[in-house]
Amino acid sequence: MNAPPFLKHHAQHVDAQLDGMLRRHRAGMPDRLWQAMRYSLLAGGKRIRPILLLETFRACGGDPLDHAMPAAISLECIHTYSLIQDDLPCMDDDELRRGQPTCHRRFDEATALLASDALLTLGLQLLTEADWPAEVRLQLCQRLCLAAGGQGMVGGQLLDMEANARNITNECEIERIHIHKTGALIRYACEAGAWIAGATPTQRAHCIRYGQAIGLLFQVVDDILDATQSSATLGKSAGKDAAQDKATYVSLLGLRAARELADELCAKAQNACAQLGAEADRMLQLARYIRQRDH
Ligand code: IPE
Ligand code: IPE
Ligand code: MG
Ligand code: MG
Ligand code: MG
Repeated sequence: MNAPPFLKHHAQHVDAQLDGMLRRHRAGMPDRLWQAMRYSLLAGGKRIRPILLLETFRACGGDPLDHAMPAAISLECIHTYSLIQDDLPCMDDDELRRGQPTCHRRFDEATALLASDALLTLGLQLLTEADWPAEVRLQLCQRLCLAAGGQGMVGGQLLDMEANARNITNECEIERIHIHKTGALIRYACEAGAWIAGATPTQRAHCIRYGQAIGLLFQVVDDILDATQSSATLGKSAGKDAAQDKATYVSLLGLRAARELADELCAKAQNACAQLGAEADRMLQLARYIRQRDH
């Protein structure tokens, strides 16, 4: 599917903002550390999480869009930190990420680990520095910590490492892994956009429902793509899940049922958009894109 045109525009804007932010935070940092952070952060990700955050902000009446930008780039720092660690030899042991050698391949393992640490703390720092009321900054910091830490993404990564295609035998177990390792940060993206916009509790609840469906959908599609696309298209090594005996929806249910589940989750996300009204048209387009993307 062709990506909606606003996606490319947003991604370019987010890239420029990330670049500027890194330059502003360079002083006092060892050059090698900064280079490694920059290498991974600006390697050309799709920027889906920042875009979800910006578009939920817009759908809840937020304006101008740049008001939510500190949270958008903060989230991309956290996401990139998670990718650097996901690729380490002690985790998925990957050599390709965003079409380039992984951070530990381009630099070394210790530098990659420290660059990821620095991106995690930088992500939080950006929230504290934003020009929002103190209460909003606190809300976002707390929610991001919950989504990124042991009760969220990090916990999910541990479950993922413990699991394999043989010891995971039902859908609930795989759902638990996916909701934590990938779903939590995506749900946070949608919730954060609503918070910064000053959304009503009802709008926020619809955004959360959307984020939950999109979060799980995103990883189901990631599993499908790993099994069906080439490394060249993905910009990361394809076929890794089967090679490493990972527990995925594809290993558990097969491709056809995984695709049906993805369709159901996409419909759930679109249903949440309908509740938000016409303002959520771009969220609707994003859901469709996330279902149909090829990388
Ligand atoms: C990959 O995320 C890791 C998962 C959580 C599935 P993305 O597919 O968003 O990766 P980038 O940011 O575009 O490289
Ligand atoms: C990654 O899941 C989840 C996180 C990075 C938190 P995967 O291991 O499937 O991601 P890819 O396929 O390497 O991008
Ligand atoms: Mg992994
Ligand atoms: Mg991986
Ligand atoms: Mg994957």
